[in-house]
Amino acid sequence: MSSVATIKRNNIPPHLEVKGGRPLSGILKVSGAKNSSLALMAAALLTKEKLLIQNVPQLTDIEVMSEILRNLGAKLTKINNSIEINSESIHNVELPYELVNSLRASFFCVGPLLTRLGEAKIPLPGGCNIGARPVDEHINGLKALGAEVEVINDVVKAQVSTKDKRLLGANITLKYPSVGATETILMASCLALGKTTISNPAREPEIQDLAKMLNSMGAKVFGAGTKRITILGVKSLSGTSHCVIPDRIEAGTFLIAAAITRSPLIIGPVIPNHLSAVISKLKECGCSISQHGNHHLKIIPREISGVDITTSPFPGFPTDLQAPFMSLMVTAKGSSKIKERVFEKRMQHVLELNKMGACIYLENNTAYIKGVKELVGSYVEGGDLRSSAAIILACLSAKGNSIFTGLEHLDRGYEKLEEKLTSAGSIISRKFDQLTSHSSFSNKIISKDNIDTQKNAA
Ligand code: UD1
Repeated sequence: MSSVATIKRNNIPPHLEVKGGRPLSGILKVSGAKNSSLALMAAALLTKEKLLIQNVPQLTDIEVMSEILRNLGAKLTKINNSIEINSESIHNVELPYELVNSLRASFFCVGPLLTRLGEAKIPLPGGCNIGARPVDEHINGLKALGAEVEVINDVVKAQVSTKDKRLLGANITLKYPSVGATETILMASCLALGKTTISNPAREPEIQDLAKMLNSMGAKVFGAGTKRITILGVKSLSGTSHCVIPDRIEAGTFLIAAAITRSPLIIGPVIPNHLSAVISKLKECGCSISQHGNHHLKIIPREISGVDITTSPFPGFPTDLQAPFMSLMVTAKGSSKIKERVFEKRMQHVLELNKMGACIYLENNTAYIKGVKELVGSYVEGGDLRSSAAIILACLSAKGNSIFTGLEHLDRGYEKLEEKLTSAGSIISRKFDQLTSHSSFSNKIISKDNIDTQKNAA
């Protein structure tokens, strides 16, 4: 990560300028779920008929997935937030490394390709800036369904050699409820011969959304969202029209934006039970949250106190909101402890938050936080998608102006973020011009003693 002092004047990427310390008001609109959309787009490869997906957010990750589908031979028509996908003539079984490397979710195509064309060659996605992210559970699941899978020179080569090139139903137990592996197995088993069960599957709402769309295509998927999914294989799937669920991670980010700026806000559309763990922690730390109409939540923050969180698979506290929640805890009264248990390298925001005056001590994957009275506007850089969101929330609450770089991460997962925040009263704008040097901002090193000795810091 570049420190401010090393950034050269002629080499500054586009950035956001944020005027901090302003309250928000009104409504923040939530887009369709990115993670659902990516899996649903891959599932479109399972049918020769046209499939319409609505409420798809306009994000760079969606652009890359669109490019991947086109690369395989699918035709895409986009109008605003709808994408029509026609996969009748897909012919390519191989994905290029560049596309897989820029979007891990591209691996979702393995199941549909095996099912439709009997073969798939996909480079291993490899680790990324939040962890190693192996795909062993995906591969074990495909093997259990009868695929022959080998990894040669970091390329996963899978094929179906049965007489009719159909995968065979199987009983699969996941060692860990991986979201991606559950989606891969779900997509691969819909057209398999016979019955498949997935024990210990991921129970995230995105799995339920995928199962709902597959069922409307004619699949027979039962129990998505529970501890066991059963799939009865069918011979073919048809086209359909499906509306993506609201993005619970974006909604959670907005609830935290309200809390960190101590502003009452209305947020929606949301499906409240997708956010139970987050709502419960926000209530515990001092927010009043109530249903507003059928699809919105109203949040009224009061005095915010430190609470502890530990991330875990759904219905636990989502790892994708760990970083944003940490920004809130930094400004809370008292101390808190945040444990990251899903990914091993998901604490990139800590250094940046400390730069802004936070008091966070990191030990392995646990952050010990002592709330401070205020954060100070700084020159900050996002290192991954959710740490970028966390840093922007901190910028909104900070005293003074901040400059945020790392838009390539942010644009992967937040649709028109600065437009939405501006409409709620923030002063935040995207700049493409050069920056002047801000070498006066410095990195602050926090030791455990800082946490222990600042007991009454906020
Ligand atoms: C998805 C989400 C991501 C979210 C994550 C956890 C998408 C596109 N991304 O990622 O935003 O943070 O769920 O909610 O939907 N693992 C293995 N072997 C495997 C697969 C996973 O060991 O074969 C491990 C991973 O390294 C990680 C943990 O399981 O430590 C969770 O990963 P997983 O649930 O698979 O996350 P993704 O599907 O990659």
